[in-house]
Order: sequence, then structure tokens, then C-alpha cells
Amino acid sequence: MNKMIVGALSALLFTGGALADAAANGGDGLWARLISGRDVPPISSERYRTECSGCHFAYQPGLLPADGWARIMGALDDHFGDDATLDPAVAKELSDYLTANAANDTRSIRSRAFAAYPLPADGIPRISKTAFFQRRHGVIPARLVKDNPQVKSFSQCDKCHRLAEQGQFHESSVIIPGA
Ligand code: HEC
Ligand code: HEC
Repeated sequence: MNKMIVGALSALLFTGGALADAAANGGDGLWARLISGRDVPPISSERYRTECSGCHFAYQPGLLPADGWARIMGALDDHFGDDATLDPAVAKELSDYLTANAANDTRSIRSRAFAAYPLPADGIPRISKTAFFQRRHGVIPARLVKDNPQVKSFSQCDKCHRLAEQGQFHESSVIIPGA
């Protein structure tokens, strides 16, 4: 009997400890942790972070559906006007990582929103051209983006979303430089 009580108590303590740890690690408080299911899961592949952050912010896999990533990874030699070619084995590894964690294949509600509307039938897709993105950014004037030397393009997520690297895109953490 006593053993059972001790067992139940330590199970409770363990759960409590894990929750407290999660809250402390996030640094954003327990509430932020509890609702973080709404945000985009952070990058978990160091190789991806290294290879795909040389020219821009490393986009989380949960920002595009798998089909979008496959098209991007299949055309790295003509990547938005740049040559981003990788060693074939590395490209395959990153491609697998991206498609396995893509927006259509995660529990994050925010990611699901990026996958909710179909991509254009052909061509290389952009996160910043997805219907969900455009609904959220449509009212921001060019003066603050393209014509803003501190931002330059909607592709530069982290210029405005201060917690973008953590996968947090909530509007409360947006500061548009120079606005
Ligand atoms: C040699 C530089 C370079 C490298 C390396 C590179 N990119 Fe890009 N990428 C670009 C440029 C330039 C753009 C267009 C940015 C713009 O329009 O402001 C872009 C845009 C993108 C976009 C579209 C952003 C949007 O507007 O929605 C995605 C997605 C993307 N890159 C993914 C990747 C991935 C994945 C890798 C790694 C395999 C990678 N990039 C590596 C140069 C690069
Ligand atoms: C010029 C600054 C700017 C850039 C660059 C930018 N955003 Fe935003 N983003 C905003 C603003 C401002 C909002 C809030 C808009 C609103 O809801 O009225 C927003 C809203 C969002 C939202 C919805 C947040 C919510 O609380 O519902 C998501 C998701 C998002 N952005 C993702 C991205 C991603 C991904 C990129 C890069 C591909 C990006 N943004 C680039 C300014 C920017």
C-alpha cells in the first residue's frame, strides 16, 4: 500500500518537475509553453540550420507543405536567382528532414495554417506567397518592406518577428524596423 502511494507521489512529482523545467527552459513562462502548440516547431537539424542560413533566416520546415519543400530542394541550382547547390547526399538528407517535418505533417496549428491552402500548380513556391501568409501581411505597405533598407523583402522574417528563430510568429512580438 505504502509503495503504491510513494509510486503515485513520485509520478506526480516527476510530471510537476518536467513541467517546471519546460517552463524554465522556454524563458517565456509556463503560459507561453502551454500555448506553444500554436507556434511553428523550431529547427531540430543542425545541418539544416548551417546549410540553409547562409543567405537568409533558416525557415522552419513547418512553414511550407512537403510538396513545396520538394520543389525547392529539387531546383537548388536556380534558387530565386542564386545557386544554392549542395552535395547530393546533403541535399537528400535536408530534403528528407524538411518533408518529414513539413507544415502538413505537424500538430502545430500555425503550421497547419500554412498548409491549409493549395500551392500554385507549378513553379518554385515561396512561404511569403502562400495564401495564409498574404492574408496576414497584405496590409503592410511596401514602404515598410521592399522599400525599407532595414527589411528589403518579406523573405526576411526575422527582421520583423523578433522570436522567429524560436518559431514564434505571434503578432505581439513583431517590431517593423523603422516603422
Ligand atoms: C546562396 C544563397 C542562398 C542559400 C545558400 C539558400 N538560399 Fe534560400 N533564398 C535565397 C534568395 C536570394 C532568396 C530570395 C530572397 C528574397 O526574395 O528576398 C531565397 C528564398 C528562399 C525561400 C523563399 C522565402 C519566401 O519568400 O517565402 C525559401 C523557402 C528558401 N530560400 C529555402 C532555402 C533552403 C531550404 C536552403 C538550403 C537548402 C536555402 N534556401 C539556401 C538564397 C539562398
Ligand atoms: C515587414 C515585417 C514582416 C516580415 C518581413 C514578416 N512579417 Fe509576419 N507579420 C508581420 C506583422 C506586422 C504581422 C501581424 C499582422 C496582423 O495580424 O495584422 C505578421 C503576422 C504573421 C503571422 C501571423 C501571426 C498571428 O499572430 O496570427 C505569421 C504566422 C507570420 N507573420 C509569419 C511570417 C513569416 C514566416 C515570415 C517570413 C517568410 C514573415 N512573417 C515576415 C510583419 C512581418
